[in-house]
Amino acid sequence: MAHLAHDPHKRPDRLTAADLAPLAPLTMEVRDGALFVGGVSLVELAQREGTALYVMDEEHIRVQLRRYRSAFADAPSGIGVVYAGKAFIARALCDLLAEEDCLLDVSSGGELFVALAAGFDPGRVVVHGNNKTPRELAEAIEAGVGRVVVDSLEELELLSSLAVKFGAVQPVFLRIKPGIVADTHEYVQTGAEDSKFGFGLADGAALEAVLRARELAGVQLKGLHVHIGSQIFSLDPYRRVLEVMAGFMAELRDAHGVVFEDFDLGGGLGIAYGLDDAPSSIEDFARVVSEALRENCAAHGLAVPRLLVEPGRSVAAVAGVALYTVGCVKVLEGVRTYVAVDGGMSDNIRTVLYGAHYEALVASRADEPRDAIVTIVGKHCESGDVLIVDASLQAPTPGDIVCVLGTGAYCRSMASNYNMQPRPAVVFVRDGTARTVLRRETYSDLLACDVL
Ligand SMILES: Cc1ncc(COP(=O)(O)O)c(C=O)c1O
Repeated sequence: MAHLAHDPHKRPDRLTAADLAPLAPLTMEVRDGALFVGGVSLVELAQREGTALYVMDEEHIRVQLRRYRSAFADAPSGIGVVYAGKAFIARALCDLLAEEDCLLDVSSGGELFVALAAGFDPGRVVVHGNNKTPRELAEAIEAGVGRVVVDSLEELELLSSLAVKFGAVQPVFLRIKPGIVADTHEYVQTGAEDSKFGFGLADGAALEAVLRARELAGVQLKGLHVHIGSQIFSLDPYRRVLEVMAGFMAELRDAHGVVFEDFDLGGGLGIAYGLDDAPSSIEDFARVVSEALRENCAAHGLAVPRLLVEPGRSVAAVAGVALYTVGCVKVLEGVRTYVAVDGGMSDNIRTVLYGAHYEALVASRADEPRDAIVTIVGKHCESGDVLIVDASLQAPTPGDIVCVLGTGAYCRSMASNYNMQPRPAVVFVRDGTARTVLRRETYSDLLACDVL
């Protein structure tokens, strides 16, 4: 648990909400000392909806999607912005994506089910997964999804036979491991040769898959897909991916006459969880990627394929905040102060899983300096149930509402019912109104699957 280690010498940073604006939803503001997002008071929302509660700034999500679309507007051969549903998905979010003319990436039958239930155009869905079940593949074909990103030879054969059975021709991408290691947590690195995802380039698996896909009935090979990881700050690995992949595409054209319509670069652009984090901007990402695509295709005389990108975190993470009510405060003299809240690892596993760091504010006193150092812990029966180690915070007392920034992605979507904790509600806020898009689970929900 080294990443949860406490620093006894850490001093409070005395920052206020205004200082933390770069880490907060675009519409976050302070009125009379209290935090508002989307024109809605977070304290009132917490009182009305209960806590733990996730609040998403709808405007922020829309702005990020539009930034992606406009930053890539000059991409040589068109752009598809494919939001990665694993970051956070709900029917309301699918509606928002449709309104913003974006596509959707799903990574399970369940995510596809939600998208279809929202009436999302299946032709604009990209299906992922390193071990899709026969049922998931059949559901995808039957729904008429736009692309299935094939991850293994077994899956390719299975998809082909299912498509033939359904009388369909399924457009596919092949997921390639370009052998590039992005500088990020090893749990979210996915582009190295040693990865469970996709076909390796170096070992010839990618070439074998391309050739097999061309032989098989029921599948139509539209392009290659690469996703090198998540929470990536440097753009160099993306440059290298395009260099490597253009080389591979040229090799395929020259030796086998294979030409692709699309190239899917995956997601992964990082965000700032702390003020010291310096991720690349969406605009810089788009510029570097578009240039590298253009240059590398030109170098090989390749027609430029349509580019798809699959952002998740950089769209949703900063849009969201988590609200908790402080229960007890334990001051362990000379050791540390524990502040326990009414959620924890069941709604945000990222601290325990990755050693993630967050910033937090007391929602009713957000313009006061954060003058205490506390460790914010959850209510679960694990010592590792920590949300923030050594957080600077306005000295909290029981009943305070703590607002944790940067929690719109990979928190509620990774939530569990550990300790039979009902999962929190999610509320979208915009223009002074709040609408619940996922209601809070009830105790009855906990029995929904319990069979006597
Ligand atoms: C295939 C694929 N595409 C896109 C994403 C989204 O990545 P991010 O949220 O880092 O943008 C992921 C995340 O793991 C992924 O596995």
